[in-house]
Amino acid sequence: MVRNTLAGARELAGYDDVSRIRQAQDHDWALDLAPGPPTRVADLGCGTGALLDAALGRWPGVRRALGVDGAPARVREAAARLAGRAEVREGDVRRLPPLDESFDLITMTSVLHWLHPDEARAFAWVAAHLAPSGAFLLTTHHPDPDPSGQGGEDAVARDALALLGIRGPDALDGIVPMGERARTADAVAALLARVLVVDRCEERRVTVKASGADEYRRFHAATFGTYFSRLVPEDAQEDFFAAVGEAAARRMAEHGEVYGITVRAWRARPAG
Ligand SMILES: C[S@@+](CC[C@H](N)C(=O)[O-])C[C@H]1O[C@@H](n2cnc3c(N)ncnc32)[C@H](O)[C@@H]1O
Repeated sequence: MVRNTLAGARELAGYDDVSRIRQAQDHDWALDLAPGPPTRVADLGCGTGALLDAALGRWPGVRRALGVDGAPARVREAAARLAGRAEVREGDVRRLPPLDESFDLITMTSVLHWLHPDEARAFAWVAAHLAPSGAFLLTTHHPDPDPSGQGGEDAVARDALALLGIRGPDALDGIVPMGERARTADAVAALLARVLVVDRCEERRVTVKASGADEYRRFHAATFGTYFSRLVPEDAQEDFFAAVGEAAARRMAEHGEVYGITVRAWRARPAG
């Protein structure tokens, strides 16, 4: 059994390698929604800086690029990747201080489910920092929720817990399931409409697939960190991550995918 996943999960390490399974596939799709070449760009929840890197490559006229992320290790990775080309700050996007500047483009991809239930705070900051002709590009993940509101990664975590002998509908008690955190499209639209005007929304069905248990274990640890693993005792952490990989491999063998989700890309503009 592979050990040391927990240490990596605590730092959300290895994201660049495994995010190609899912999140990185959305970067160009989201950037394609920009209304025109921006000169000032901010990326909230910038992770390792991959989207800003792509934006800087796509638009040579960008003269101000700011990335913000809440995870110190991610900030270090992004700062190294974007050195001399962007400023990367550590910060909680639900509590960002006001800045004396505005942006033509603000992006936030694969982050919203982590802000629940305080998404509105991030949207208010965005609305206050968009230039009048600016745009906010947001991607949201919508797993198919079961009647208990669980879906996507919740189901993999539940399978993993079952492999460890923890079964039943209450297995995820103690966390807010991703199916709930992700919110419905209507709920996202309503939150955005409080402060911005949504003028584009695209959606596509994507399948999350992995080459095997090892890759999925690493994807889960780099993406979800210890969010689900906290459901098991400290001495069962490595077993949990191994079980996540095994659960995903079983799903791949049975269905040809770990799960499917709907991903939406939103473009919102300043009101008025
Ligand atoms: C799934 S990753 C997405 C990274 C990148 N935007 C992408 O599309 O690849 C989610 C990122 O959001 C960050 N994050 C989660 N909650 C946050 C918060 N409240 N404030 C700032 N960053 C946050 C995490 O640290 C992580 O880097």
